[in-house]
Amino acid sequence: MSQATDQLSQRDVASILHPYTQMAQHRETGPLVMARGDGVYVEDSQGRRYLEGMAGLWCTSLGFSEQRLVDAAARQMQTLPYYQLFNGRATEPAIELAERLLALTADLGMDKVLFANSGSEANDQAVKLVWYHFNALGLPNKKKLIARVRGYHGVTVMAGSLTGLAANHADFDLPVDRVLRTDCPSHHHHGLPGESESAFVDRIIGHLEALIEREGADTIAAFFAEPVQGAGGVIVPPAGYFERLQAVLRRHGILLVVDEVITGFGRTGQMFGSQTFGIQPDLMTVAKAMSSAYLPISATLMSKAVYDTVCSGSAKHGSFAHGVTYAGHPACAAVANETLKIYAERDLVGQVRALAPQMQARLQALRSHPLVTHARGVGLIGALEIARDLAPRVQAVAAEQGLIVRALRDAVAVCPPLIITPAQIDELFDKLGRALDLVQREASAAGRS
Ligand SMILES: Cc1ncc(COP(=O)(O)O)c(C=O)c1O
Repeated sequence: MSQATDQLSQRDVASILHPYTQMAQHRETGPLVMARGDGVYVEDSQGRRYLEGMAGLWCTSLGFSEQRLVDAAARQMQTLPYYQLFNGRATEPAIELAERLLALTADLGMDKVLFANSGSEANDQAVKLVWYHFNALGLPNKKKLIARVRGYHGVTVMAGSLTGLAANHADFDLPVDRVLRTDCPSHHHHGLPGESESAFVDRIIGHLEALIEREGADTIAAFFAEPVQGAGGVIVPPAGYFERLQAVLRRHGILLVVDEVITGFGRTGQMFGSQTFGIQPDLMTVAKAMSSAYLPISATLMSKAVYDTVCSGSAKHGSFAHGVTYAGHPACAAVANETLKIYAERDLVGQVRALAPQMQARLQALRSHPLVTHARGVGLIGALEIARDLAPRVQAVAAEQGLIVRALRDAVAVCPPLIITPAQIDELFDKLGRALDLVQREASAAGRS
């Protein structure tokens, strides 16, 4: 390790509490310090290059060196670096971005946009909008929220409560009350021996109906769902699942909040996962690829019906008393506008559809590897289920091979920037295959296989 990197490492350990990091181990190993990026690659402080197979945290869709986004931020910073949306103020980039988001979601019935900074906040404000909506409708008992096992909606107190992963709750005193939990739609993990996918869907939809019956539909406000559960292990739902789910929710007057924080902006081969899976949301949350993550920005979109009741409810109080300082920040909005322009000009969503067969075929080909027990994905997102608790080891060995992938419990996820080329998809899976072979060899040598 160079002296400079060594010093950075020491300063890191002395100063940063790292999110999602084993704290004791980190004090021993120190950080992997990233220094620069170009295209789908990043380079660490020691000059080692990695293909970023996760687009950062499922977010840098345009890769790591899109000059147009840098220029858009700089132009806006020079003109008006900050202004707020509170108290009826506005900026042109925020107005333009809201219009673009509504144009992209016109077929999904979205009518108004409430901006925020992160996916967690977008989900938190979706909860508040849902509660406010039912209060305005004179249904104050309709407050409970249904979320799924393995769902991930962020980490703030409310979004973290909706998240259905034990590690996000343990010793954080979560979930708070008002959250009901229902099944994860993974036939691979939760199907019974010999159960068909359609029988599995029948069974878990039956559980949902029983839950609603037990709790009373008049106490349940909304159901939160990612089209593809990302952090829960890249769970692609079985055919018919969302159709059946929506029929039940509609019958019981329960709103559907679709968390598009990962699936938004092309990832699944349509602009939104809702379009890929035939979902009609009442509210939607978006973040990440909206700005290719170059600057933080998120949004909660809502139908006209939700907006209208929220509007009438706020009349009672004189104003809508919710908002965060940086909501619709003009520099972040300018970067998001440029990102959405680039998606359209380069037909990035069409490109995802064109690349998906190669990506999914290479993923499925690894299913025959002795360490891989399941392969799944859609568009440019996928995961391999890894045997014998070796997913973290595969992640580490892949990094040694110059590839960044992410271990999620027993799975290893891939979610590359949308600008990846066919040759780079081959490079990604060649490296992943090599990492699997090396881990398999290690495990055999250790007598574990
Ligand atoms: C589906 C989904 N929702 C919400 C979030 C939370 O977003 P943030 O980390 O920006 O708060 C994430 C983050 O990965 C996510 O994957």
